[in-house]
Amino acid sequence: MKIAFFDVKPYTEEAFRPYAESLGWEMRFYDTKLGIHTASLATGCDAVCIFVNDDASAPVIDRLHELGVKVIALRCAGYNNVDLSHAFGRVHVVHVPAYSPYAVAEHTMAMLLTSIRRIHKAYNRTREFNFSLNGLTGFDLHGKTVGVVGTGRIGRVFADICKGFGMRVLAYDKYPAADAGLPYVTLPELYRESDIISLHCPLTPETHHLIDREAIGMMKKGVTLINTSRGALIDAEALLEGIKARQVGAACLDVYEEEGDIFFEDFSGHIVEDDTLARLISMPNVLVTSHQAFLTREALDNIAETTVGNLQAFFDTGCCQNELCYRCGRVETCKKERCARCF
Ligand code: NAI
Repeated sequence: MKIAFFDVKPYTEEAFRPYAESLGWEMRFYDTKLGIHTASLATGCDAVCIFVNDDASAPVIDRLHELGVKVIALRCAGYNNVDLSHAFGRVHVVHVPAYSPYAVAEHTMAMLLTSIRRIHKAYNRTREFNFSLNGLTGFDLHGKTVGVVGTGRIGRVFADICKGFGMRVLAYDKYPAADAGLPYVTLPELYRESDIISLHCPLTPETHHLIDREAIGMMKKGVTLINTSRGALIDAEALLEGIKARQVGAACLDVYEEEGDIFFEDFSGHIVEDDTLARLISMPNVLVTSHQAFLTREALDNIAETTVGNLQAFFDTGCCQNELCYRCGRVETCKKERCARCF
């Protein structure tokens, strides 16, 4: 088995390297991202292993197909960077549906607490022996209303954490789950009622810019917005306007619409060309982390284990539970239902 890994960081290699040794697989680790100009690095490989900001659009899939690559193994849950319908019939796509919802949900709460209790500012102040409390006034979470958009694995864990803080939870999901035990409301209702809104739904054409000017206009004045899902759920320009108008009281962003060429890299000492990101970061009430919510030891281990398991299942048995459904529409003849490769 030969696998080309793209967008590799030291912590990725650390998690996968032991499997290369124990299984005798050839793993090629590239720090560059997958794209049309780098796809040929997968020459001779059975599979490529990619992450959130790699490009698996139609032309890249065609190139991988030409090279004989059989599988794209996503080492993440989200797959908005893969043209799934184009992949159907060409390259199989597997992903890691869940590796630690706790990692992301706990980071969401960490960002919320850091932001509203000004921990990041206090940390910097005390390092300079500035013990003044001016400007650090926060607010209690207890008794506040949090609106959770998307009540899948992560949204539910975050809702549970919020309940532990004595918060009132409101939920919205396009497909509400009867067993979630959450009070579902409409989106406008959630916007109107929530002091804090946290996004936990996938990025799809439907959820692209879910939070736009109109949505922000419906929210409570001073709302705290948290996005640990995908950047393009929020229209960043509309968010900036909302912040300047004091409509948005604080924003916690682990993801950003145009993060692809920026996040995961060290740009200190460089001029960042993205004015919108620069303006957001310059705001005193905006907290940005660089797509870090998943980054716990447990999550990295689970990602590596599941990804290797996906490839083993695919190549050894021809059936992988985590092969992504292409929604080919052929319900009666669905091979996945019968535990076989989709095509
Ligand atoms: P999940 O698939 O368990 O839950 C997603 C939920 O969103 C489902 O309940 C689904 O019904 C709902 N949903 C789908 N379309 C919707 C819509 N139009 N409006 C409202 N809800 C909708 O996914 P999970 O594991 O909870 O992950 C959620 C998202 O978190 C992922 O899609 C991914 O983008 C993001 N993520 C971010 C990470 C990070 O490091 N920042 C790490 C892992 C995931």
